[in-house]
Amino acid sequence: MMPVRRDVHPHLPPERICNWHERGQHVTHFINALSIFFPAGERFFMDSVRNYRDRVTDPELRQAVAGFIGQEAMHTREHILYNRLLDDAGLPAAQLDHAVAKLLNLLRRILPESWQLAHTIALEHYTAMLAGGMLSDPRHMGVSEPGYRQVWTWHALEETEHKAVAYDVWNTVMKPGPYRYLLRAFTMLTTTVTFWALVFVFHVRLVLADKTCRNKLRGFGSVMTFLWGSPGVLRKMIPEWFDYFRPGFHPWDADNRAELARILPLIEEIEETAIRAGASTKAPSLRSAA
Ligand SMILES: [Fe+2]
Ligand SMILES: [Fe+2]
Repeated sequence: MMPVRRDVHPHLPPERICNWHERGQHVTHFINALSIFFPAGERFFMDSVRNYRDRVTDPELRQAVAGFIGQEAMHTREHILYNRLLDDAGLPAAQLDHAVAKLLNLLRRILPESWQLAHTIALEHYTAMLAGGMLSDPRHMGVSEPGYRQVWTWHALEETEHKAVAYDVWNTVMKPGPYRYLLRAFTMLTTTVTFWALVFVFHVRLVLADKTCRNKLRGFGSVMTFLWGSPGVLRKMIPEWFDYFRPGFHPWDADNRAELARILPLIEEIEETAIRAGASTKAPSLRSAA
C-alpha cells in the first residue's frame, strides 16, 4: 500500500460549520472537536516519524514515509481552514488548538523520541479505527452536508491508506523484545485516557459556546446514541482497540484496502461540488486567509 500526497481542497460552506451533520448540532460539534486536534496532532505525527527517517533504509518504506508526510501535511492545511470556520462562528477553536500544541510541545521536550513515536502509532491506530468504522458504515456520515462529508471521507480514506507507515517505521527502528511491546501497550493506555478526556472537554466547550445550539444538555443524548448505540462508532471500535495489545499486531491485519477504490471517485465528487458552489478547488494560501 503506497500512500501518495493529493492536493485536495473540499468546499466547506461556512454557514453550516455548526450544523452540518444529519444528526444535528451536538454530533456536528463532537466531530468538530476531533478536527481541532488535527493541525497540532498531525504535525507531531510528522515530526516523530521524521526523527527516524534517516534510519529507514528500505526504499519502499522510505517512499511510504514521504507519502505519509505529504498526506498529513494536506490534512493539516485543510483542518486549519476548517477550524478557522469555527473561530469565525465565535467558537474557541484557536484557543483549544493552542492548548493541544502546548501539550504536544511539552511531550516533544520531555519524552525520548521513541516515546513520541509510540504516541504517534497509538494515535494513528485511533485514526485508523475511526476511519475504518466510518468507511464501513454509511450511517456515520449519513446525508450530511456534502462538503463536510467529503472532507471527512477523504481524510478517512488517506488515514486508511497510510495506517501502517508509522507502525512499520516503529518496527524497523525499535529493537524487538519486551521493552518495545510494553512501551507500545502502555502508551495506548495513557493515550486513550488523555485523548478522550480532551475530546470530551473540547466537545462541551464547543456546544456551550455555540449560541445557536438549543437543548444543550438533552442534545448529548444524540451523541451517546451515535457513539454507543446506532451506528455505535465507539462500541464497534472496542475489538480493534484490544487487538492493538496482541504482541504480533499489525495495522493491515484489519484488511480494508478495498475501500481505497473510493479515493478517485471521491476526488472527482469534491471537485464537482466545489465547482457547483462556485468555489475554487484550490486551497487559499493560509497566509492570505489569515
Ligand atoms: Fe491525517
Ligand atoms: Fe495519519
